Order: sequence, then structure tokens, then C-alpha cells
Amino acid sequence: MGLRPGLPADMLYLRDAFPRERWTEALPESAAFWLQMHAGFRAQQRHMADAAARWRSGALDPHGLHGTLIPTLQAFLQHLDGHHRIESGHYFPQFRLIEPRIQPGLDLLDRDHDAIHAHLDALYQSAVAFHQGVAAQSPGASDHAHRLADVLDRAAPGLIRHLDDEEDIVIPLMVLKSGPAA
Ligand SMILES: [Fe+2]
Ligand SMILES: [Fe+2]
Repeated sequence: MGLRPGLPADMLYLRDAFPRERWTEALPESAAFWLQMHAGFRAQQRHMADAAARWRSGALDPHGLHGTLIPTLQAFLQHLDGHHRIESGHYFPQFRLIEPRIQPGLDLLDRDHDAIHAHLDALYQSAVAFHQGVAAQSPGASDHAHRLADVLDRAAPGLIRHLDDEEDIVIPLMVLKSGPAA
């Protein structure tokens, strides 16, 4: 499945009404917190991609890769899973009531969560295999490290796309619908 280039035009009317250039203005606390969470996921993703690149270049051995990658990956899996459950289970249903016109956009974001979840499962499985290989000082640890790095590569583009697209819907919606007239 190819990566979409962004949201379809009919889902961008909220961002058109409150474009990214204005997101530096005082945002409602909920919107600022949302952006902060997403910034954390992007930073974790960059850290893991960097660790994988250093492994591939030979700058890290399996033990070194384990030390720098696994703690971040554990936190990433746990936080992202919790974040998606709160979005799909709590926020999106509220947004559907507040702004029925954006329902197709929220459907798309819910489908993203399912797709990303499959990547998180794959990451978990390959991280466990890598961890066990390193713990056992097995010569197979290198193969597991390569596999884990490949799974990280596959997971990244869809996640980054989702974070950007979700912000284009959620941040303007929170700003535009949080005023006294809302
Ligand atoms: Fe999300
Ligand atoms: Fe999110």
C-alpha cells in the first residue's frame, strides 16, 4: 500500500480555517498537549532510526544497539498504544458529535490506528527476539537486529504521515470549537 501524500482536500477545511502558521498562537491546553505528545513520538522515532543507522554502519554492536534502542522502543510502544486508545475511544467519538462533517477524516484516522497497531505488534515481536538473542549472547542476535531495523523502517512513514494528518484535523478543531460560541 502506497503512502498517501496527505489528507484529501475535503478533509482539510479545518486546517484551512486555522492554518499551521497560526499554531504558534496561544493554543488551548488540550491542543498544546496533543502537539507535545506527537513531538515526543517523533523524537522517539528519530532516536530509533538513528540507532538502526548506527547499527547498520557498524558503529554499534548488538549489545550497543540493545542499550540505546530497547528502552526507547519499550516506552514508544507503551505510550503510543495508550495514546491511540484514548484518541479512538474517547476523543474521536466526542469530535464526531462536535463536528459531524469531519467524520470521514476521523474514520481515516481510526483506520490509521489499526494499521499502525499491526506495525507495533511486529516491532514488539522482533524486539523480543532481538532481546532474547542479546541476553543469550547468541550469534543470531545480529540477524534479529537487522530484522528489527527493517521493521522500524517499515513502520516509520505511516506513523509520521498519521501524526501530521491527525494534527491537521484535531488542532484546528480544538481551537475553532473551544471558543465561547462553541
Ligand atoms: Fe492517532
Ligand atoms: Fe495522536
